[in-house]
Amino acid sequence: MTRSPTQFVLAARVLHWLMALLIVSMLFIGVGMVASVSERHAWLISIHKPLGIAILLLAVVRLIVRLRNPPPPLPADLPALQKFAAHASHWLLYVLMLLIPLVGWAMLSAGGYPVMLSDSLRLPSIFPANAVAFAVLRHAHAWLAMLLLLTFLAHLGAALYHGLIRRDGVLRSMVGGRAP
Ligand code: HEM
Repeated sequence: MTRSPTQFVLAARVLHWLMALLIVSMLFIGVGMVASVSERHAWLISIHKPLGIAILLLAVVRLIVRLRNPPPPLPADLPALQKFAAHASHWLLYVLMLLIPLVGWAMLSAGGYPVMLSDSLRLPSIFPANAVAFAVLRHAHAWLAMLLLLTFLAHLGAALYHGLIRRDGVLRSMVGGRAP
């Protein structure tokens, strides 16, 4: 009989911390961008788009890693409701990591804007030009980013609860180090 893993595989752990850093930066860049009317607006947008596409690609790789490597099981004594909340919030985070960049890309396509990742690298349009769709997608992008921020804060709270109060090895399974 094979034992259940006590840690996430290395690729999952590296992707987790790298993407946490990128996504938190993106939330600040996004809000800073829409709050700025100076020349910094164009500069922030030029960072926001390639970073968002990088998050989309990393999310696809991460999903593949996750499907191929089952995560360590949650502690057996964790109440069923908390187990459900953990699984539901993790899958919600995957959905948002994929959906938000796609909606950002579709929004620019609907607005008829070229999606430039650099001076010469232009992504194809993924949505027909349509002013109403642009407005809807623009709102959807902002609301989904807000949902991502709230889910991320709940996730952070749960990680601290496991690491500091329950001390049940859940936080360690993503940080690395010796199993309990
Ligand atoms: C995980 C990835 C992403 C996150 C977390 C994110 C987050 C955000 C946030 C928080 C805002 C500000 C919303 C508001 O308050 O109105 C924003 C705006 C925006 N985002 Fe993203 N975004 C992501 C990916 C992308 C991608 C891939 C693109 C395009 C290729 C994009 C294009 C835009 C544009 C054009 C705006 C509006 C800028 C403006 O109106 O000045 N985003 N994003």
